[in-house]
Amino acid sequence: MAALSSAKGALLPWARSAAHGGLLARVLVGGAMPPPPPPPTAGGGRCSLLPRRWQSSLPQLDHVDRSDEESGGGEIDWDSLGFGLTPTDYMYVMRCSPEDGGGFPRGELRRYGNIELSPSSGVLNYAQGLFEGMKAYRRPEQAGGYSLFRPEENARRMQHGADRMCMPAPSVEQFVDAVKQTVLANRRWVPPQGKGALYLRPLLMGSGPILGLAPAPEYTFLIYAAPVGNYFKEGLAPINLVVDDEFHRAMPGGTGGVKTIANYAPVLRAQMDAKSKGFTDVLYLDSVHKRYLEEVSSCNVFVVKGGVVATPATRGTILPGITRKSVVELAMDRGYKVEERLVSIDDLIDADEVFCTGTAVVVAPVSTVTYRGKRHEFRTGPDTLAQELYTTLTSIQMGLAEDTKGWTVAVED
Ligand code: COI
Repeated sequence: MAALSSAKGALLPWARSAAHGGLLARVLVGGAMPPPPPPPTAGGGRCSLLPRRWQSSLPQLDHVDRSDEESGGGEIDWDSLGFGLTPTDYMYVMRCSPEDGGGFPRGELRRYGNIELSPSSGVLNYAQGLFEGMKAYRRPEQAGGYSLFRPEENARRMQHGADRMCMPAPSVEQFVDAVKQTVLANRRWVPPQGKGALYLRPLLMGSGPILGLAPAPEYTFLIYAAPVGNYFKEGLAPINLVVDDEFHRAMPGGTGGVKTIANYAPVLRAQMDAKSKGFTDVLYLDSVHKRYLEEVSSCNVFVVKGGVVATPATRGTILPGITRKSVVELAMDRGYKVEERLVSIDDLIDADEVFCTGTAVVVAPVSTVTYRGKRHEFRTGPDTLAQELYTTLTSIQMGLAEDTKGWTVAVED
């Protein structure tokens, strides 16, 4: 990963060998598509793939064929991972029915595969659903295991969104435990250091049937996983955005501030139009004044001018990104003044640097923003804040730099 060499000063002792490929040999173990799921065995077999401490909390696991892990059957090309869906072995499923009294009972790991939904489920009919995005990184060999980044924040954000969408949510402890189980069950899919991460997608949906507009009677919490590399096709190269002042992502009083599935399909039209014109993605403006920055389709936005970093304040129309929150803190640590406020399109045009943040995109430098047909250019490259933040953040996430903030949570092998 290019960023690692420029981060040398900040790296922990084991980071150098990791950065130079010391860990890579380990990874090609069985990076294969799993064979088709075997038929379920009566009573469910125990998952011998999982360490003992997790096995105890796993009811009714499907039979697990260890040959998945040991022999593989094909190899994933870790060097060309993008952000596509590579199905992995297991997903975590937990259901909450009316008799559960509003809480989720224990969930279970199941073979990754299709789920059954009522045609009249709340999620299909009324978009009663939320999702989260998280990443598990393989830690350096000396440390072993995997690393999650601030998973409690995702759990709390899901709880907040669930409240807005009238859904019950898992407790923080249940959420984090489920994420850890999902990582371990799919550990052969965690890419080698520097090649990417295992992306985790927790979903919460109204899965029970409902016809009249009302909250669904039953809910499903599910986590699936996929190994991913860079989000944008540009890789780590700077991206080119276009401002859309016709389509809007959110409105005051709406749901822009929670991670509901309903926020994402509506941006597809603008995003597809932008891509067809050669732009990477769309930057949305507020729907009232059509003047203030909101966010990009899949990430938050920052502008830098001199020693001041500004990002749109989260007042209900902007997703409170966990990477956004972390980057605010890291920029302040570096002596920048960070302002969370209204950021106008003029502020952006006047900026030295623009970058985006998100779990999937991490920290993505923006080289151009086109607004009303005029292209504005920004600084990118080695001496930018975006580059520095990317390096610092990913070094913490991957366990290559000391986590002085207590942001990472280890998942032990
Ligand atoms: C993430 O960054 O994890 C997201 O949820 C954005 C998604 C549209 C890829």
